[in-house]
Amino acid sequence: MASVRHQDVVDELRAAGCVFAEDEARILLEAPDTDVAALLARRVGGEPLEHVVGWVAFAGARLSVAPGVFVPRRRTELLARVAAEATHDGAVVVELCCGIGAVAHVVATRRRPARVVAVDLDPAATACARVNLPQAEVLTGDLVAPLPADLRRAVDVLVANAPYVPTAAVETMPREARDHEPRIALDGGDDGLDIARRIVSEAGAWLAFGGVLAIETSSGQAPSLTTAMTAVGLHADVVTDDDLGGVVTVGRAPREQNRELPSLTVGTARPRPGADTEASTT
Ligand SMILES: C[S@@+](CC[C@H](N)C(=O)[O-])C[C@H]1O[C@@H](n2cnc3c(N)ncnc32)[C@H](O)[C@@H]1O
Repeated sequence: MASVRHQDVVDELRAAGCVFAEDEARILLEAPDTDVAALLARRVGGEPLEHVVGWVAFAGARLSVAPGVFVPRRRTELLARVAAEATHDGAVVVELCCGIGAVAHVVATRRRPARVVAVDLDPAATACARVNLPQAEVLTGDLVAPLPADLRRAVDVLVANAPYVPTAAVETMPREARDHEPRIALDGGDDGLDIARRIVSEAGAWLAFGGVLAIETSSGQAPSLTTAMTAVGLHADVVTDDDLGGVVTVGRAPREQNRELPSLTVGTARPRPGADTEASTT
């Protein structure tokens, strides 16, 4: 709207506590064919900028995100990089807890996988993922439940940024996350690893020989997750990127033919004393 001046938008955003008021004003004023005053009112009211404008910048791409859906964080670009590096030509890639499909998007655009499948429990998230992943199969359901049977023992890269905020820490998260992102996208149970442990316990049934499982986590949780991966026969490692603030636990399945991956008994481990409880969503 031509009558809304850049400086007025900056001032209003600043008064509302937006740290990057200049950048946000530019983005709001660039929004095509929209009522900037209405968008500004939503932003000043506390809605995440990405929900207001309908897109999020992720690893150099502009991806669609709808109100009420988890907004991918910059730290997750590390998970995307790990997944892309593990993807060879013709690979089968599955992203669980895909949200809007940001990680799968990076893999699909930077590599040449034969097949990309993305799954999320939240239909609003999978609706966005279908927009962002036009070549992928996007399925709605609980973790591996909707995966087609022909993917058993055929997945080369299984990747997930599952919810990993410990239940007690959800209340300490920024209001933008608590008020505008679904609880199932944030709450990872007592120690934050409930969903991650379920994924680890299922992985053996789906990974191909030499397949890679990559899960985003926090530095405090990484040792527990590495232990869980080792317990199911994966060779586990931790990859970090301090600039992004990302931590990824990576497990590789054995390459030999008659390996048998034991399944993990899913439980709720207590957080280690001193383990951090950093949120996946700040
Ligand atoms: C932290 S968000 C991450 C979304 C996406 N991976 C990203 O990084 O932007 C976690 C996602 O897991 C999904 N989720 C939670 N529990 C799930 C389950 N049991 N099965 C499938 N998806 C689940 C949520 O709906 C949410 O989209």
